[in-house]
Amino acid sequence: MTYDVESVRARFPSLATGTAHFDGPGGSQVPAAVADAVRDAMTSSLANRGVVTAAERAADAIVLDARRALADLLGASPEGVVFGRSMTQLTYDFARTLARTWSPGDEVVVTRLDHDANVRPWVQAAEAVGAVVRWVAFDPATGELDDVADALSERTRLVAVTAASNLIGTRPAVARIADLAHERGALCYVDGVHLTAHHPVDVAAFGADFFACSPYKFFGPHCGVVAGRPEVLADLRPDKLLPSSDAVPERFELGTLPYELLAGCTAAVDFIADLVPSTGTRRERIVASLTAVGEHEDRLRERAEAGLSELPGVTVWSRAGSRTPTVLVTFADHAAADAYRYLAGVGVNAPAGAFYAIETSRWLGLGDTGGLRVGLAPYSTEAEVDRLLAGLAAFLRPA
Ligand SMILES: Cc1ncc(COP(=O)(O)O)c(C=O)c1O
Repeated sequence: MTYDVESVRARFPSLATGTAHFDGPGGSQVPAAVADAVRDAMTSSLANRGVVTAAERAADAIVLDARRALADLLGASPEGVVFGRSMTQLTYDFARTLARTWSPGDEVVVTRLDHDANVRPWVQAAEAVGAVVRWVAFDPATGELDDVADALSERTRLVAVTAASNLIGTRPAVARIADLAHERGALCYVDGVHLTAHHPVDVAAFGADFFACSPYKFFGPHCGVVAGRPEVLADLRPDKLLPSSDAVPERFELGTLPYELLAGCTAAVDFIADLVPSTGTRRERIVASLTAVGEHEDRLRERAEAGLSELPGVTVWSRAGSRTPTVLVTFADHAAADAYRYLAGVGVNAPAGAFYAIETSRWLGLGDTGGLRVGLAPYSTEAEVDRLLAGLAAFLRPA
């Protein structure tokens, strides 16, 4: 499949500035089509969801379209797609709701590879009900997650695991982990925020009971999504207002949905489906596009890693066998924050930090400081990788 990066780039107004964006793991650039969809929704005749006026029906259609779009993107059921303000907010909500079904002595499993948004909500919810937290670590030398099986018991109620680390890119074997959780009668909550931007996702094949993602990481607006298994959602009783809908998934969506952002989500999914010329259902086109994106990004990652390995005093921490194109580096004699500032001065955006993957950064021995994160995106080019490498070489050159 030919991936025409220049024609993809032409659809992003912000890339005209010439800045090389390696900051995608924090949030991608946005194509014009998504911004247009947001504006069109806001300037159209729109009311609260309903069936009487055309404006009400328009709002209803936006919501249902967005659920179908996310379901196509994730290989999930539209009836289980819950929208919220962010992945963090949704995960806190689900943690509090699920914790009501836990008893003292029950166990919750979290990992040191996860962003804190898939750690702290579970740790705090467990504490509130006297449940025990079991930690799964990873090998700092390889970046591979330890065996989750060792943390499971008959008391395990939930396993929270990332589909990909936003700091070092490791992709744990989520389907196996979900199977292990289910064998113990536990649920599996997967943080798909980082993975969804880079690879085709198949929530059903993962076996995830909940799969969380954030459309602003894949060209969409700033909001969050959890694709839950509808039959699991049906058994949960979140706090909600008396007059609001008790249907699934509306039961989990507090207040009025941001219709304009949902219209932007649908546009983002359609944009992904169109990244490479292909035919078939939208789901099939999404899989074709993200497969091509994965290959494009892997090529660039190999180029970046080869160049980084030739620079003096550079340590690359992204080493897992299966990983996203997100490369964390540190420098023997320089602070990553200084490299970040230097690169910004030459039009290359590659931020430094731990990016809320605080457990991961500490486990690597990098404290709360982390490193320089080079995140490749579908709009990244070889020339940009070369600019990054040249910028770092200049930064590291003795004065
Ligand atoms: C892996 C991962 N999980 C969760 C989050 C939190 O997402 P949100 O900003 O939607 O709360 C992020 C954000 O960077 C992330 O990278």
